[in-house]
Amino acid sequence: MNEIPRGTVQEQTFYEQVGGEDTFRRLVRRFYEGVAEDPLLRPMYPEEDLGPAEERFTLFLIQYWGGPTTYSQHRGHPRLRMRHAPFQVDAAAHDAWLKHMRVAVDELGLAPEHEAQLWKYLTYAAASMINTAG
Ligand code: HEM
Repeated sequence: MNEIPRGTVQEQTFYEQVGGEDTFRRLVRRFYEGVAEDPLLRPMYPEEDLGPAEERFTLFLIQYWGGPTTYSQHRGHPRLRMRHAPFQVDAAAHDAWLKHMRVAVDELGLAPEHEAQLWKYLTYAAASMINTAG
């Protein structure tokens, strides 16, 4: 039986709380608009079409925040540091990445506590992705 006992609070994932798939699609679409115009970041992306990279990142974030696990069904374990190893992620790339992400997060118009939680994760993750000094 899937009944929820009376008196229990049904937990919502962060994914649900911030508006589900649509919110993550908007976030990553806006982020890639910035990347597409960025002279440092754009050349790092191996594919001519940024669409597939946008899709991978969107599905990753959806999965990370408690939504469907489609990302891992297609890509397996995220292993993000390993997947970034082919790219020179230095301080400048990190800063440019976060700059575009900041714009994209701001445009979501989330509640302050959600925004803070999302930003804390993104800044932490971005710092951990640096693999090149300088
Ligand atoms: C710090 C600066 C970063 C740079 C310069 C960077 C750059 C890149 C590049 C060039 C790719 C390859 C595009 C593709 O073909 O998918 C990529 C993939 C990806 N990045 Fe980043 N990235 C950064 C940080 C991050 C962070 C912080 C996250 C997670 C929060 C992230 C998540 C991903 C994911 C999920 C993929 C696709 C992995 C896959 O192949 O399945 N990246 N990134």
